[in-house]
Amino acid sequence: MPLKLAQLSLDRDQTIPLSRQLYVQLHQQVIHGEVVYGERLPASRELAESLKLSRGVIVEAYEMLRIDGLVAGFGKGGTQVCYQQVPPMLVKTSKRILSLSTRGKTITQARQYTQAPALPLTPGLPDLSLFPHQQWLSLSREAWQQTQGVYQRAGGLKALKLSLRNFLAQYRGIQVDDLSCLLITTGSQGALSLLASLLTETGDIGVVEQPGWAGAEGALRQAGLNLHYTRLDAEGALVPQDTKAKLAVLTPNAQYPTGSVMSMQRREAWLQYSQHQHTWLIEDDYAAEYSYQQYPTPSLLTHPHAEQVIHIGTMSKLMLPDLRLGWIVLPKAIAKEVCAALNTLGLQPAYSIQQQLALFIQYGYLGQHLARTRAIYNERRKFSTDHLQEHANGLFKIVPSQSGMNLILELIPEVDVAGLSRALKSAALGCAVYVESNPVNTSSRTKLVLGHACLLGYELEVCVNKLLQVLKLSTRT
Ligand SMILES: Cc1ncc(COP(=O)(O)O)c(C=O)c1O
Repeated sequence: MPLKLAQLSLDRDQTIPLSRQLYVQLHQQVIHGEVVYGERLPASRELAESLKLSRGVIVEAYEMLRIDGLVAGFGKGGTQVCYQQVPPMLVKTSKRILSLSTRGKTITQARQYTQAPALPLTPGLPDLSLFPHQQWLSLSREAWQQTQGVYQRAGGLKALKLSLRNFLAQYRGIQVDDLSCLLITTGSQGALSLLASLLTETGDIGVVEQPGWAGAEGALRQAGLNLHYTRLDAEGALVPQDTKAKLAVLTPNAQYPTGSVMSMQRREAWLQYSQHQHTWLIEDDYAAEYSYQQYPTPSLLTHPHAEQVIHIGTMSKLMLPDLRLGWIVLPKAIAKEVCAALNTLGLQPAYSIQQQLALFIQYGYLGQHLARTRAIYNERRKFSTDHLQEHANGLFKIVPSQSGMNLILELIPEVDVAGLSRALKSAALGCAVYVESNPVNTSSRTKLVLGHACLLGYELEVCVNKLLQVLKLSTRT
């Protein structure tokens, strides 16, 4: 089969040289068997004329093919294809071969994702417009100047570890004496998935809170764990009675999504459970700093008998989800191995971003940002709480919470849950409904969770009014 001249398409406006473009296309024709073994390519002068190129371009392209071993001979004898296609295998590649392994399927089926737009009352979202872009940008040059440009293998940049160590001591009461026990990773999701895979065997039991964050469920499922859902009471997540879990993910300082804070007694009970059952307790502290108290309760890690507690944190709520940056504080006994896994799995945020964040914390900008956003979010929470209370009309009561960026409404039993879910979806407000069932007396309560952090007074009022209307229409009174 001769060379298919008509198939050659060269773009003179591209930055890629014409000889390179021609070479790539000829290469494709040869390896796909469009020009076969023994076939002569057109003489360089002839091809140059047909394609309206200089002869040098053709010679260069042929030379590249020669280096690849696809053509041989130049000059008077011409250029001949010397590549023989490997005969195609008789068996067709089956669907079964082009599919994932059992492990791959476990990982991919762990959680369903949809690229949901950030709607005004979506729970747990920080107000991105409050992010101090100017301050952040002003550090970019300095961060780049300090970046070393080489692979870092210590589980995070030392500069960021030092800044975070101060932050954790100041805000969360956590003392990190040995920097190897503080690892920087790609957000809480990365941290949880990594820890669940490293600390458990397939088929072990993993505990998650209900209601809770779908990301924690996904992280445990991808590691092949059987999930045990633990409900909440007024003191926080209940300790399982007859279940021997290998790992539990808890949000003691700001339960997600309810914002409740776990009592001291319940923390003690979890620590005792951990000691008796040898259970890893992963404390997911995604936003302790948004506690409504002046200072958040110190981390679970600071309690005595917290040998199997691992603290994870993230900048997704305190700053921006875009950073994809979180951290793990873990026992020395496993720190080196977890760090090796971080390197192997490549779960590290960009070093330049780590450097920039180190400076952001060091210069006190994070502290300023937290103080400012805390005050604003508290104002917005107060506004939406007051407004909702004023117009509740007996349709719901607001569940008191001590932390976080969400409000929880407990709806009256007359609400039509399916109708409400549909109406909320079409109203595009972003709030979510969940049903809490009590296995003891088989009663259930419907609750609605809404984020109050993202809207200014007027917008918040408009959205809350829209929500009130949807609630009224979905309730049989
Ligand atoms: C309980 C909880 N932890 C952590 C996160 C943040 O995860 P990441 O750091 O992966 O963005 C979220 C996000 O919604 C969350 O709800």
